[in-house]
Amino acid sequence: MLSEEKNRLLTEVGPGKPMGDYLRRYWHPIAGASEFDEEAVKPLRILGEDLVLYKDLGGNYGLVDRRCPHRNADMSYGFVEQCGLRCSYHGWQYDQSGQCVHQPFEETLDPGARMRRNTKIKAYPVQEKAGLLWAYMGPQPAPLLPDWELFNFKNGFAQAVFAEIPCNWFQCQENSIDPVHFEWTHNNWTTRLQGGEGPYVPTHLKLAFEEFEHGFVYRRLRGGESEDNVMWTTGRVTLWPNGFFLGHHFEWRVPIDDHNTLSVLWVLSRVPTEQEPYVQERIPSWYGPIKDPATGRWITSHVANQDFVVWVGQGTVTDRTREKLGQSDKGIVMMRRRFFEEMEAMQADPAHEPKGLIRDAATNCNVPLPSACRDEMLHGLPRAALAAHPLLGPYLRDFFGQAGQPEHVRVAYERAIGQKVEGAKFFKVHGSAAEHHAPQPTSEEEQAG
Ligand code: FES
Ligand SMILES: [Fe+2]
Repeated sequence: MLSEEKNRLLTEVGPGKPMGDYLRRYWHPIAGASEFDEEAVKPLRILGEDLVLYKDLGGNYGLVDRRCPHRNADMSYGFVEQCGLRCSYHGWQYDQSGQCVHQPFEETLDPGARMRRNTKIKAYPVQEKAGLLWAYMGPQPAPLLPDWELFNFKNGFAQAVFAEIPCNWFQCQENSIDPVHFEWTHNNWTTRLQGGEGPYVPTHLKLAFEEFEHGFVYRRLRGGESEDNVMWTTGRVTLWPNGFFLGHHFEWRVPIDDHNTLSVLWVLSRVPTEQEPYVQERIPSWYGPIKDPATGRWITSHVANQDFVVWVGQGTVTDRTREKLGQSDKGIVMMRRRFFEEMEAMQADPAHEPKGLIRDAATNCNVPLPSACRDEMLHGLPRAALAAHPLLGPYLRDFFGQAGQPEHVRVAYERAIGQKVEGAKFFKVHGSAAEHHAPQPTSEEEQAG
């Protein structure tokens, strides 16, 4: 249980708020690079700021204020030039740094362009990595954008999957350090959603949480498992400050504002070794629906959707003055405490270096994270062994990660793995609720979300 004041500290992300300032010290994934194959300009809201993300004709990305500093026109209706974005009202043009580089009428009257040189629009740096576009909205010097090892594994089919979730980011992130929910939100609930009454999976017996440089590792032991099970020996990573790493995929919960979160999944599916060498030309990105249009209820058929349901169900900003924490919440308590310590340290000393930032280019190459399936992801498996793998095998049967995978992504994936996925025909985004029966993995380690 927390005081109202402490709950606000964790959840308010606007500029000037302690958590807002803290999160601005990290790079955040905000869109898929493939989105800009068709559209050059996209309005978006991140950390409570209204912004416009664009790709100019020179191929460079920029992220600027939604409003033009001249007379507040909407820059999302601007148009890109060789360098930067031009406002469609009076043609003022801004480069990636936000500097105004053309002010047509003013410069006609004043060829010295004094006013133009003094005009800037708010702008943040953007980088592309792993098919994602990342923004840094904090003070300079920016840290390095982490080069996680998984981003560089060969012979994989990656996809970036987004959804906008109408609740605060922190309750989403608390889910990254909550092992027991796998048993109920994913395993047992899925059994019930698919019409079975049981049996339920073996229950959790032991949990362990440890902090490390890039977050926390949680480990779990369930009934019937021995202590050499990878979920006990290696476990999973609660990635600081707003991510989750599960060996073959990442999740990030990027605050849109205090009441909305951009969920980002980045999933790498290793192709069977028979398909090697496989080189993916373009990492696709897509946005999945979260509501079933036929019923108006949240979609429950896929792993991430099940998570979304429990997050939004906690209330837009969950009321942490009313909760009853138990032993299963030990990791959540540890994580909250670290955020409080970090925010306090930063408020006391603005020079405080936030946890886990990478600044040394020599160390920012294939940065490893604890992974329960590193060998399989690195070296691959023949088709039969991959299909039998408890964690990775289900991806050969369906993309059960999140509802709404577009057909072109499924087709590209099938081509990559050299076989059809069976499950795709079971799920129709615009179908009725009765059709939402994606065949989910059933064994206990198979659930990925
Ligand atoms: S409002 Fe943008 S150029 Fe005038
Ligand atoms: Fe989950």
